Amino acid sequence: MMTDISALKAGLIADIDAADTPDAVEALRVGALGKNGVITGLLKTLGPMSPQERLEQGPPIQDLRESVTAAIAARKAALESAALDARLASEKIDMTLPADPAPQGSVHPVAQVMDELAEIFADLGFSVATGPEIEDDWHNFTALNIPETHPARAMHDTFYFPDAEGQKRMLLRTHTSPVQIRTMMTTPPPIRIIAPGRVYRSDSDATHTPMFHQIEGLVIDKGITLGHLKWTLETFLKAFFEREDIVLRLRPSYFPFTEPSVEVDVGYTLANGQRVIGGDGDAPDGGWLEVLGSGMVNRRVIESCGLNPDEWQGFAFGTGVDRLAMLKYGMNDLRAFFDGDLRWLKHYGFSALDVPTLSGGVGA
Ligand code: DAH
Repeated sequence: MMTDISALKAGLIADIDAADTPDAVEALRVGALGKNGVITGLLKTLGPMSPQERLEQGPPIQDLRESVTAAIAARKAALESAALDARLASEKIDMTLPADPAPQGSVHPVAQVMDELAEIFADLGFSVATGPEIEDDWHNFTALNIPETHPARAMHDTFYFPDAEGQKRMLLRTHTSPVQIRTMMTTPPPIRIIAPGRVYRSDSDATHTPMFHQIEGLVIDKGITLGHLKWTLETFLKAFFEREDIVLRLRPSYFPFTEPSVEVDVGYTLANGQRVIGGDGDAPDGGWLEVLGSGMVNRRVIESCGLNPDEWQGFAFGTGVDRLAMLKYGMNDLRAFFDGDLRWLKHYGFSALDVPTLSGGVGA
C-alpha cells in the first residue's frame, strides 16, 4: 500500500511537472482531486477504517493530497508566469511612434461665413436677430408690402403647409426679411440688426437649392439716408473680401419692402483667367457681380410694424450667404454645400482650431 501511494505520488507529480498548458494541469487536477479523482477515492477509504488502520494509512494519503495540490499550484503559477513573459516579450510598445491622429471635424463654409458676417457687423454696432423658419403669410409677405395679389409672391416659389381650418396659413419662410418685421414689432428703435438663417424655395439647379442661407440687415433710426446704406455696405464688403479696392455699383431696382430699392454689384477683375472680387468692374478685364438687394425701408413696412414713418427711417439689405461663401472661397456648385459629402467638406471646410477669422483669431 505504501509503495503504491509513493509510486502514485511520483507518477502524478511527474505528470504535473510535464504538463505544458493550464488546461492539461487542470485535467490532471480533476483526475486526482476531482469528485471521482484517484486521491478523492483514497480519502474516501479512510471513513470505514478502524482507528488503528486510519492512524497508519491516513498520513501517507493526506501527504499525497497535499503534495499533489502543491505541485498543481506550483505548475499553474509557473505556466502563468511563462505566458506573461511571452506576452511581455511579444507585445512591445514603441513610445517613440507618432500617435494615431484623433478624428477632427471641420467648420462648414456656411457656418464660417456666418461667423465672419456676425463679426464684421458686430464691429459696426449690429446685433444678431433670429426668427422662425416656419412663418405665417403676414410676416413673410403682407407686412413686407407684398399683398395677396402681388406678383412678387409668385417669384418666391413658396412651400406652403396644408391649410388648416380656422388657422393662419403657414409656410417655410422664403427670405430672412420677416425678421425685420418681428424685430421692429418687438424692439423700440434705434435698431441695428443682422438676421442670418435658413430660407426655403421650391427651386433646384446648380445655383439654387430648396434650402439656402440668407442674411438680412436692418437699420431703423432718425435721419437715415441712402448714404448710410452705401457706406455700410462698402465697409462690410471690404471687410468680408479682405480687400480695400472693392468697388460698388448701385443700380435702381424694385423690392416691395424698400423705396427706393437698389441692387448692389461688386467689381471683379480677371487674374489668371479667374474672376477675383475687387477692382473696377468697368476695367477692360473686369465685370460686375450682383451681391445684394437693398434699399430704404418702405414707409408702409414701418407703418405695418406700428412705427411712425415720419419719425423713423432706415435701410435694409439682404443677400445669400452661400453665394457669398462661393465668391470668397471659390466654390462653384451650390448643391455640394448640402450633400454632406465629407470629402467636399475636407477640401473646403475649415479646421475648428485654424479658422481664418477676420480679427486674426483668439489671442490676436
Ligand atoms: N428678401 C429679398 C430676397 O429674398 C432680399 C432683399 C432685398 C432683402 C432687398 C432686403 C432688401 O432687406 O432691402 O430676394
